[in-house]
Parts: sequence; C-alpha cells; structure tokens
Amino acid sequence: MQHEQRLAALAVRKVHAGATLPAALAAVDDGAPTRGRALVQELAYGTLRHWGRLAALADALSVRPLSDDVKALVAVVLYQLDQTQAPAFAVVDQAVDAVVLVGRPQAKPAVNAMLRRYLRERDALNAQVAAASPVAQWSYPRWWIGRVQADHPAHWQAILAAGNERPPLTLRANRRVTTRDALGERLLAAGFASDPVGEHGLVVRAPRTVTELPGYSDGAFSVQDAGAQLAAPLLALEDGLRVLDACAAPGGKATHIAELADVDLMAIDRDAARLVRVRENLARLRLSARVAVGDAAAPAQWWDGVPFDRILADVPCTASGVVRRHPDGKWLRRKTDVAAFASQQQRILAGLWPLLAPGGVLLYVTCSWFAAENELQIKDFLARTPEALRETIIFADDIPHAGGQLLPSVNGAGHNQDGFFYARLRKG
Ligand SMILES: C[S@@+](CC[C@H](N)C(=O)[O-])C[C@H]1O[C@@H](n2cnc3c(N)ncnc32)[C@H](O)[C@@H]1O
Repeated sequence: MQHEQRLAALAVRKVHAGATLPAALAAVDDGAPTRGRALVQELAYGTLRHWGRLAALADALSVRPLSDDVKALVAVVLYQLDQTQAPAFAVVDQAVDAVVLVGRPQAKPAVNAMLRRYLRERDALNAQVAAASPVAQWSYPRWWIGRVQADHPAHWQAILAAGNERPPLTLRANRRVTTRDALGERLLAAGFASDPVGEHGLVVRAPRTVTELPGYSDGAFSVQDAGAQLAAPLLALEDGLRVLDACAAPGGKATHIAELADVDLMAIDRDAARLVRVRENLARLRLSARVAVGDAAAPAQWWDGVPFDRILADVPCTASGVVRRHPDGKWLRRKTDVAAFASQQQRILAGLWPLLAPGGVLLYVTCSWFAAENELQIKDFLARTPEALRETIIFADDIPHAGGQLLPSVNGAGHNQDGFFYARLRKG
C-alpha cells in the first residue's frame, strides 16, 4: 500500500504543477497490476477532491513546515483515513514506510506522530481548520467559492458540497438496441444492480470499469451523466430534420441525438484528435453522422450554406459543473479562465446563430456553475439578437433546477446529475 500512497502523492503534486489528473496518473503508472492502479487512482482523485481541507490539516499537524512531497503524502494518507475502509493503523504504518520511498527518511518520526495525533483528535482538528479558512472548509479555491456564492445565493453550499461527492456511474440505454428497463435486467442478471434515472438512464450501484458491463461492446449503452442526458430531448427532434452538433467530441450528446430520431446529423469539433472518439462511439453504437473538423466560431470554413433546423452548442467552458468527476479542475483553473471561456462562448454563439433556419432551435449548453458562462452569457446574446426568443424549459418534476441551471439533488436523492446549464433559443 505504501507504494500506491507514494504514487498517488506524486500524481497530486503533478496536478499542482499544472498537469491534468489523467495525464499525471499516466505519468506515474509503472505498469503495476490493475488493483494497485485502481487504488492509486482512487487516492489521487479523492485527495484532490478534498485537497483544501487535507492540506490545511497537514499544516496544522506539523510542527515544522513540510516539504511539498511529504505534505502531498500526508494529504493522501489523511484522505485514506477519512474516506476509505482501510484499517487506520495499517494505513499509518504503511505511510511511515512511504515517507522513505519519497526520499525523506528523516521525516518518518514526525509523520508518524502527525498521523497518530490525527487519529486521536480528528474531529477537533477538522473543526479547527474549517473555522480558520473557507478553502479548508469547502476544498475549493477562494475565488471559486466566492463566485458560486454570488451566483447562487440560495444554493451555493449544496453546490459546493455536491462537487466533493464521488460521482455516480450513469448509463444511457441505446433505444435503438434496447430499453432502459431491459438493460437494467440484463445488468442485474450479470450481478450489477442499478436504479433508473430519467427516460433512458441507469445509475449502476457499484461502479465498474464499463467494458466489464454486459452490452458495452454491442452498443447497448453509453456512459453519460443524467444531466447530460437531457440535452438531446430538449432539441425536440423529428425524423428528417437537419441537425448540427457544433462542439461534438467525444460524442455523448451527438450519439444520443442519432438514437432519438432519423435526422441528418452533422457533428463538428475543432479538435481532430477528440473527433476520433466521436467516430468510435458512433461505430460502437451502430449510428451514423457526418463528422468533420471545424471551428464553430468560423462556419465559413465548413458550412455548405443550407440552414439547420436544430443546433446544439455544447460549448467549451470551465467545467465547474462536473468538478465531482474532474476534481483536478478546481486546482488547475484560474479566476481569469472564466472570462476567457465566456468570450469564446460569445464568439461561438455569434458564429452559429446565422446557420439556424427561421423557426429553428439552438440549444446552448455548458457544464458550469458560473453565471458569466450561463445566464449572463444568454442575457447578453438576447440583448444583441432581437430575433432570438428564449423558451422556458419545463423539466420533469424530479429534476432539481433553477431556471436553466441544473442543481444537485438534495442528499443525493432523485435525479443525481452534474451542474449543466441549458438555454433554448428559437429563431423568430
Ligand atoms: C463540452 S465539450 C463537448 C462535449 C460533447 N458535446 C459531448 O456531449 O460528448 C466541448 C467541445 O468543444 C470543442 N471546441 C472548443 N472550441 C471549439 C470551437 N471553436 N469550435 C468547435 N468545437 C470547439 C472542444 O474540443 C470540446 O470537444
């Protein structure tokens, strides 16, 4: 276990040096058996989810300032003590050996003393660090907490808390192959219990590597968050419509569109490498679409001049709404990124609007909590675009939302979803 603790700490440090977590995990991967890799992944994801608190605890426990590598290791071990079932004393014993592996044998007695003190005084220490700083209390950068608080005065605490939860594994049944309930029975027969969510979704109770689930290779399902599964139905698709998915990769929503109706679908994305995933997903699900590299903000390069009846603009964003799936995001993003994404989104909206046929619908989507990318972006767009009419979206009763912003479900009940934002714009 000390080996995995060390690798997880190394991955956490790489993220703090600017790497994404998947890249950091790939860099520390030493070809160990799958079980060991899964533990490194769990420890690194969990530590980043709770980094603000864990780093503050490490500081509070140490008598002298800690080196960055020892601090990361202590944070990993504190996470393991708090959030996993591993026996506490074994975790601490192994951690003391891991201190040697990170090349700091002289820190062994101090780390041993810190961790044992934590086990004795856990509640008091947690209360002390939470009271001292919102970063330790919520485990987000201060600017992020301030923005969520300002943008969602009634829900900010629920939003921040939900972003620190482990995300569910949610599947979308491919309705061209099966139904949600038939897929649920097939999973159960193979030993995987699940619960229905929305019209086509299933939450797998004990998350697995998806390729282990029956039906993956024959295209019976996709992996897609319940909140993201709302996008394609909001386009009110009908057979024969001309539909553009303007930011399509890796194809989660594009494939859903192709499952729901026999439309003429064009899927573009600026990133050619990511478009490979769209093609793979279409092939696995036995669907088809025209797929092309293109900049949504500069359609002259790829548009044939025939208007679209529906446009999905699932724009690049801070991804603050999917932070529970990508906890590295909160430590990698900078305050200034919000305005940079907002201006990209503005250019994409301006580029796509002329492509929409009169009476057609453009669905604007982000996975963000920040109003600058959502409500304010749409307000600005409407002010500049007199022929754009915003339609009220009626969500199903069990979907928590505030206007077009999806919210976390209370205490994990009901529609367990990421923080997507939807605005439906009709051309008058
Ligand atoms: C939120 S992701 C899309 C997710 C996708 N719709 C799905 O459901 O799987 C945003 C995508 O926009 C692409 N992108 C960023 N800027 C773009 C631009 N100017 N034109 C087209 N695509 C762009 C990114 O490469 C990224 O794949």
